[in-house]
Amino acid sequence: MTKVKTAFFCTNCGTQHSKWSGKCNACNEWNTIVEEVIIVDKQKKTTLGDSRPKPVLLSSINVEETPRISTFDMEFNRVLGGGLVPGSIVLLGGEPGIGKSTLMLQVALNMPEKKIFYVSGEESYGQIKMRAERINTGFNNLYLYSETNTLSIVTEAENLKPDIVIVDSIQTTTTPYIDSSAGSVSQVRESAAELQRFAKQSNIPFILIGHITKDGSIAGPKVLEHMVDVVMQFEGDRNHGYRILRTSKNRFGSTSEIGIYEMESYGLREVSNPSEILISHREESTSGVAIAVNLEGNRVLMIETQALVSPAVYGTPQRSTTGFDARRLNMLLAVLEKRCGFRLGAKDVFLNITGGIKVDDPAIDLAIVASILSSNEDIAIDPGFCFAAEVGLSGEIRPIPKIEQRIAEAQKLGYRQIFISKYNLKGLNQQSSTIRIKALSRIEDMLSEIF
Ligand code: TYD
Ligand code: MG
Repeated sequence: MTKVKTAFFCTNCGTQHSKWSGKCNACNEWNTIVEEVIIVDKQKKTTLGDSRPKPVLLSSINVEETPRISTFDMEFNRVLGGGLVPGSIVLLGGEPGIGKSTLMLQVALNMPEKKIFYVSGEESYGQIKMRAERINTGFNNLYLYSETNTLSIVTEAENLKPDIVIVDSIQTTTTPYIDSSAGSVSQVRESAAELQRFAKQSNIPFILIGHITKDGSIAGPKVLEHMVDVVMQFEGDRNHGYRILRTSKNRFGSTSEIGIYEMESYGLREVSNPSEILISHREESTSGVAIAVNLEGNRVLMIETQALVSPAVYGTPQRSTTGFDARRLNMLLAVLEKRCGFRLGAKDVFLNITGGIKVDDPAIDLAIVASILSSNEDIAIDPGFCFAAEVGLSGEIRPIPKIEQRIAEAQKLGYRQIFISKYNLKGLNQQSSTIRIKALSRIEDMLSEIF
């Protein structure tokens, strides 16, 4: 007998609620709760057959170091922690149009010795072929399958015995066991669970692509995060060519690695030296620009911060930022006003992190302060200077982690002087560095040093 059930789900976080409400009390998002009809067709068994698994003694399990499937994309491998683990489920999330399908197709095409099963519920064979021609890597061993039914996908995968299965996207797949529309929370969850069961039992790794949308009309990949092995995000500003691949969960490696790509007309290009593209190369130095030595995951990135300080035309001065937290900017401005006596309260301040990336490493503080001061005084900062320190509420310059790594990178890229916190000097080996290290303890001390 079929049992008809309806339930309320949050399309953002997947929480099930007993009744509708305007706000999800689990993730605090508004207007994300929808009612879904779920008809579970599977017959509940009351007695178990002989097929049930038996408990196993831990010491009796022998694992040879499972060989990871290494892809030809070095950035992708590194983010995964060395390659795909057999039988694992990787979820690749990102906004529509950011390049998820391009990335996966490119990874697949670059592995001619592996059999890839590419399931697409979104694009026709012709569209995928056209994209593949754009990426153009020649010979490959890729099987396309345009299908959304999980049963057919699993059956075909069983017949084909591929090395890797890519599903684009999980929101288009449907399972016949559940009678709700594609993209709904229960449908997305159940389809993924079915694919996962197959992945574990066949030891074939699955990569699931998931769209992140703001309007909540389809369930986001967040509802799957707890059940998959690796959660990856592909992010970037659509108007800039740079894309960052990062992991927020990885059962087989660290989550601090990032991969950087640039979108070109022939697909995505791996960027192995990101610092050179994030810094604009100017002929003459301009005021309001300072270079921060930032850490993204485990990698050091030189990031250009630009500030524009101008007298406010209207009564309330404007503060506007791209790529940086506006509240943190307000805090830094208050510190400058109170500790250095700059009257910034009557000025508009605009702040921009170049390259369209978002920064949350507090080590960028000192560079932001320097760029604001530089714009305010209209004096350019020496292009050979870079900054790496956090700024505290009382105007103290605070230490940051991994200072050696940052100094080494700044030196490698030819910077002449780096400004750091005095408290970072402890245990720092300065003998080996040719770059001049300027250690500061208070923000007031920086003024005389940079101009
Ligand atoms: P796509 O992979 O379709 O995005 P997603 O799967 O995340 O929705 O990428 C779409 C964008 O990428 C599209 O706007 C065009 C651009 N693009 C390039 O710039 N160069 C290329 O070689 C390809 C294939 C796409
Ligand atoms: Mg796509």
